[in-house]
Amino acid sequence: MTARIIQKLRVAAVQASTPEVMLYTLEHPRKPLLPAWEAGAHVDLRLPDGRLRQYSLCGEPGVQQRWQLAVKREEGGRGGSAWLHGALAMGSDVLVSSPRNNFPLVAGARRHVLVAGGIGVTPLLAMARSLAAEGADFTLHFCARSAELAPLLPELRAACREQLVTWFAEEGRRFDPALIGGPEAGTHLYACGPHRLTEAVRAAARALGWAEANQHYEVFQPTLDENFKPEPFELRIASTGQVLLVPADRSALEVLREAGFALASSCELGVCGSCVCGYRDGVVIHRDNVLPVAARQDRMTPCISRARVSVTLDL
Ligand code: FES
Repeated sequence: MTARIIQKLRVAAVQASTPEVMLYTLEHPRKPLLPAWEAGAHVDLRLPDGRLRQYSLCGEPGVQQRWQLAVKREEGGRGGSAWLHGALAMGSDVLVSSPRNNFPLVAGARRHVLVAGGIGVTPLLAMARSLAAEGADFTLHFCARSAELAPLLPELRAACREQLVTWFAEEGRRFDPALIGGPEAGTHLYACGPHRLTEAVRAAARALGWAEANQHYEVFQPTLDENFKPEPFELRIASTGQVLLVPADRSALEVLREAGFALASSCELGVCGSCVCGYRDGVVIHRDNVLPVAARQDRMTPCISRARVSVTLDL
């Protein structure tokens, strides 16, 4: 996995989407075009202290003159959104990575069911724009506390028209995950939002018999599992036969780097996919929120995932 190119972009417009969400338009200060991207992609924003934060692109896929992303100010968060809200104004510069897409639309699907919660709507707005442009069959369920607190609502209404179904708790309308309906051939399900919502959608999809391959989730928060007790394990390197011990209090990524392996990383929380590498011969304890089930057979995120006893990495 190669490191992603970081470039300095300029804030060309700032707009308050809700009292807690700002919509930023970014352009390159000199070049007319930015790298191409597809709906579902995210970029990393680099904070002044070097930390990276992931934000989905929510503008018009295919438009390369500018990117748009929406940032919700997370009170009690890790400080990234508060800094961005305070520091980014028209004309300011920000370091942004090239896009990565862990959450793509499935080409050629017959129908798409999209479920968004709050700020989780950002990748789904880009998807809706893409699907509407193709004339595809889709429905977007959008859950928020109220219309006033629903990010990007005018943009969603314009993109989706009658394919948008809103669920605003303060209006007494609560989304029932069973509304995703039973699985039908060629239908794909995409959900992004708080854990509570994505887990409810997952549970409904399981109960209704959806195939894993037809379900797609994007989660930008790490899984908080206070009961997880990390154990030491061994990393075996397939190309050299080296054996490295990962102690209980360190990550496989740290140990690999210390041994000279230049692995890329970004979030180091199991949500971005930058560090993914192949493995064989081992039982991996997957703790990320990024790899689809099918990919977990032979790929892992060494920033957060671990193994029982030993795993051989394709390095
Ligand atoms: S660095 Fe983001 S998943 Fe590992």
